[in-house]
Amino acid sequence: MPSPQFIQLHREDDAALRQELAQGLLGQPASVSPKFLYDALGSRLFDAITELPEYYPTRTERAIFDAHAPAMAALVGPGRTLIDLGAGSCEKAARLFPVMQPARYVAVDISVDYLRQALASLQRQHPGVEMLGVGADFSSALELPREAGGGERLLFYPGSSIGNFTPEAALRFLRQARQEGGAGGALLIGVDLVKARPVLELAYDDPLQVTAAFNLNLLRRLNALLGCDARLEDFAHVALFNEAASRIEMHLQARRDLTLHWPGGERRLAAGERIHTENSYKYTVGGFDGLLREAGFARTTCWTDERRWFAVFLAS
Ligand SMILES: C[S@@+](CC[C@H](N)C(=O)[O-])C[C@H]1O[C@@H](n2cnc3c(N)ncnc32)[C@H](O)[C@@H]1O
Repeated sequence: MPSPQFIQLHREDDAALRQELAQGLLGQPASVSPKFLYDALGSRLFDAITELPEYYPTRTERAIFDAHAPAMAALVGPGRTLIDLGAGSCEKAARLFPVMQPARYVAVDISVDYLRQALASLQRQHPGVEMLGVGADFSSALELPREAGGGERLLFYPGSSIGNFTPEAALRFLRQARQEGGAGGALLIGVDLVKARPVLELAYDDPLQVTAAFNLNLLRRLNALLGCDARLEDFAHVALFNEAASRIEMHLQARRDLTLHWPGGERRLAAGERIHTENSYKYTVGGFDGLLREAGFARTTCWTDERRWFAVFLAS
């Protein structure tokens, strides 16, 4: 049984990461990049979120793939290198294997331990597909290693992870994705669409409080990576739809006046003050199509569900 090759491009104990975290905490307002939400526990909590009845994106995107994957595959053609950006459990890509028939699968994620496990298990189920794992942080630049290989590439970016970028940063990312795709490359991307506030806010603030646990896990990461002394019980999970910016925002709100300390720094937070932890931008079909074209994709096809809650675009 082949075991997947793995390449590690980023380091978790980096001084630069500590500086990035400290800088974010000292900002006005305080913020922490959503990429820090994902360690092995964060990835498992995210997977639990996708099972929640309130979290419509995963279910809706899956229904779009179930209905239209053959049409997508007909446009893409078999034998591609399927490059899964932010692969997580690798489940979405794995469901596409039978219809897309990739020659090679490259899974990229910042949550390295979780990705290693997911990929090893996937390789056992698909011994005939060559697989490569890449531990990478693509928040500032998407640069695939040489080992990702040549051939015709299909970049896969599901789950509306593109929504974690501001529209300007999303445009930069899409341009890099087009470049990394190379000649004959294509991008298959899932995008969450604008909808009524209650539906959006419930999806990011479920009564079982799994999303709250996912958000609060960030404080454990702050403590582990930065040596911070945050107490989880001092913070509340807040999720709100900022309609003007067309984004769901997640915050951690201080329940009392407090000071966070870490080696070389501190941050006072008044009761009610927040640490901004994630944005999830919501697009219209026309708006996202325009972004793809601005990024240099000449041909786009879009599939949505009946309620037009979610969209999958194929761009080349
Ligand atoms: C919203 S989850 C989506 C997971 C899966 N693709 C899906 O659609 O269900 C985002 C994924 O991207 C990964 N991720 C987040 N920030 C990242 C970064 N800066 N670089 C690489 N991977 C990142 C996370 O670890 C996580 O697996």
